Amino acid sequence: MTRNGRVTVVGAGFYGSTTAQRLAQYDLFDSVMLTDIVEGKPEGLALDLNQSRPIEGFETKVVGVTTGADGSGYEQTAGSNVVVITAGLPRKPGMSRMDLIATNAKIVRQVAENVAKHSPDAVVIVVSNPLDEMTALTANVTGFPKSRVIGQAGMLDTARFSHFVAEAAGVPVGSVRTLTLGSHGDTMVPVPSQCAVDGKPLADVLSAETIAELVTRTRNGGAEVVALLKTGSAYYAPSAAAARMVKAVAQDAGERMPVCAWVDGEYGLSGVYLGVVAEIGREGVRSVVEIDLSDTELAGLREAAEAVRTKQADVAHL
Ligand code: NAI
Ligand code: 2OP
Repeated sequence: MTRNGRVTVVGAGFYGSTTAQRLAQYDLFDSVMLTDIVEGKPEGLALDLNQSRPIEGFETKVVGVTTGADGSGYEQTAGSNVVVITAGLPRKPGMSRMDLIATNAKIVRQVAENVAKHSPDAVVIVVSNPLDEMTALTANVTGFPKSRVIGQAGMLDTARFSHFVAEAAGVPVGSVRTLTLGSHGDTMVPVPSQCAVDGKPLADVLSAETIAELVTRTRNGGAEVVALLKTGSAYYAPSAAAARMVKAVAQDAGERMPVCAWVDGEYGLSGVYLGVVAEIGREGVRSVVEIDLSDTELAGLREAAEAVRTKQADVAHL
């Protein structure tokens, strides 16, 4: 098997370390760089992950790097093809993602500056919350083409929706297709008109009342896990989502995925990072794909765009 390329995961917390694990187990890359500001944490996790190689059977090496406030350490990540930014605080029970904005903006700004300096050709996948705003901030700070800065939210929210539908319908999750667009927040737009079970429209399989309940549960999917965990937020499904996006970039797959991407005229919307379906390849977003939406879904998407637009402009000053 040919392995090539370098992917860097910034932040070795729950999200970052599980993402590094998934990426290493794909066995596609020469190396997975895992960084954090807590001295020894990325090195320790990298050592542990590398020791799983004989059991899991992969050759990709994981390299842990402690980075400093002065940007030291980033030189070891130089020339990364893809960078995943997971650095930042997660929510506590009762907090909204937006409560993290000031703290995480400072962290993400520092990370983005160093990514731009050392990996100027990378595709950057942002996961830190609040997601839509941190994605816009990263694009702004790196100065990269908007197509090379993408946020991860839709893959996760869609996966949650599919899981809930599979459970409610009592079918294998593989027979379910769902979609969410909009923001990774209160203005998330689950799209029942595009959902199907074994190719049948969702409305033919579940009652309108059940679909409405699942839509609400999907919008609150992150908070439901936070409330159960009491400390920290979800990371298994989130890391699966980010890792799949990295894979689509690395393999230049052109795969259609729900992601947070820059919209420029699609759906009559412009100048904002928003959850949409996009084709993902080596250069990041190849194109945003417009999906047929019901009038209510389109109105929801427009509402989401306006809700995140102002915050995305404000975050540039944080
Ligand atoms: P965590 O607290 O386990 O890990 C965060 C890590 O970031 C810590 O190890 C911390 O030391 C590190 N860090 C802080 N400042 C840093 C810096 N300047 N450079 C490098 N590393 C730095 O949190 P977790 O669970 O890993 O979540 C990370 C972020 O991802 C949070 O903001 C969370 O809200 C977000 N998230 C986003 C999701 C999405 O769908 N977009 C889903 C789940 C979490
Ligand atoms: C989630 O949706 C908290 O954004 C995080 O799990």
